[in-house]
Parts: sequence; structure tokens; C-alpha cells
Amino acid sequence: MPTLAEVEREACSCIRCPLAGGRTNVVFGVGDPHADLMLVGEGPGRDEDLAGVPFVGRSGKLLDKLLLQEMGLDRRSCYIANVVKCRPPGNRDPRPAEMAACRGYLDAQLDLIQPRVVVTLGNVATRAVMGTNDTIGHLRGRTYPFRHGSRGHGCLVPTYHPAAVLRGGGEAMAQMRADLVRAKEELVRPGNVAGEATGGVAGEATGGAAGEAAGPPAVAGQVHR
Ligand code: URA
Repeated sequence: MPTLAEVEREACSCIRCPLAGGRTNVVFGVGDPHADLMLVGEGPGRDEDLAGVPFVGRSGKLLDKLLLQEMGLDRRSCYIANVVKCRPPGNRDPRPAEMAACRGYLDAQLDLIQPRVVVTLGNVATRAVMGTNDTIGHLRGRTYPFRHGSRGHGCLVPTYHPAAVLRGGGEAMAQMRADLVRAKEELVRPGNVAGEATGGVAGEATGGAAGEAAGPPAVAGQVHR
């Protein structure tokens, strides 16, 4: 198994997809490589491309603020990455082929960091990590069992992308705050056993037909249910 630094080194010279041609910097990820919490966004924007660091623009400022206010965390105590590591032109959504080409880096990050709680930010990241076409508006508000690599149990909390919250205002902001509180509750839950992964709709994610009620497994075929 390579180290995170080795995977990052490889990513930094990656030419697996056309996004490589337009980048200033590869935006691999930032934070504590042993973090219990990992946040996954969509892909770098202009500010991130210039800095080589995820979520440093307006969205990032909001994310930092909400992490602190709702979870008591700053970004150094979590790990933040994106589905694609190079900026899509004009901040368009990454294309399926680009996400597929980049997927190995995100999978390696999840395997090596082994977060207990993964928070996906927005439709693109949530769909990519959960392997679903469902919308964030439908998926958020619950906690999903999530397993990656050799860690037995963890959970995934989908929430809005901070850029959508900046556009959407009050209601979206309140919902994102509630999602982060849910993620915090999961962080302090001892063991984070998949069967105990619960959310705001706790009964839907626990026991019995929890897997079905809570939606698709976070990583197809890898969830203990
Ligand atoms: N939006 C993302 O999805 N990721 C970033 O790093 C910045 C903005």
C-alpha cells in the first residue's frame, strides 16, 4: 500500500484526463492524514487551482465557519479532498470520464485515511461516493453506513455544497448546519458500528430494513448490512 505522500506525488504529475492540461496546480487534499472526519467536495475552483489547496475561496470560508460553529473543528483537524483533483474549466461539473480517471486518488485517500465519518458536499461528491444518481436534496438529512478499505465501520453524512448554500440562503444553511451536527454526533459515537449509524431520521438508518430506508449503500457492496 503506498503512503498518502506517494499517492499525492503521483497525482501531481497526473495526465490521466484532459483536466491536467488546464490546471495551475493539482489540488490533492489537505489536513490531518489520521483524521476521523473527511470532507469530500466536487473539484477545485479558480482559487483552489491557484493555491493548490481545496476550499480556500468563498465556499471554503463558509465551510470553515460552519465546521467551527457546528462541530468545533478547524480544517487542520479534518481531511478535505475533492472528487477530481484538477479544476474543470469555467467551474463546470466534472465529467464522468474525468471522475473515473481521478477516482483512484480519492479511493486511495479514503483507504489510507480511513475516516470514521465522511461528509460529502453537494450532488457531485455525494453521487460519486455513494454510487447513486439520487439528488442531495433527497439524500441529505440521514446518515448512511459506509465502509472503505480495511476499516470495518464508519458512516457517511451527505450535505449541500457550500456554494449552493451561499446561493440558497437560509433554509439550505440551516439544513447544512443540521447535517454537520449529525456528523459531529457520529464522530463521538463509540466505535461507529455500521448498525449504529444513525441520523436525523434515526429509525430509518438503524435496525431492520435500515439499509433500504436509508437509501443506497454508501459504497456499493462494501457496506455491512
Ligand atoms: N468547490 C469544491 O467542490 N471544491 C473545492 O475545493 C472548492 C470549491
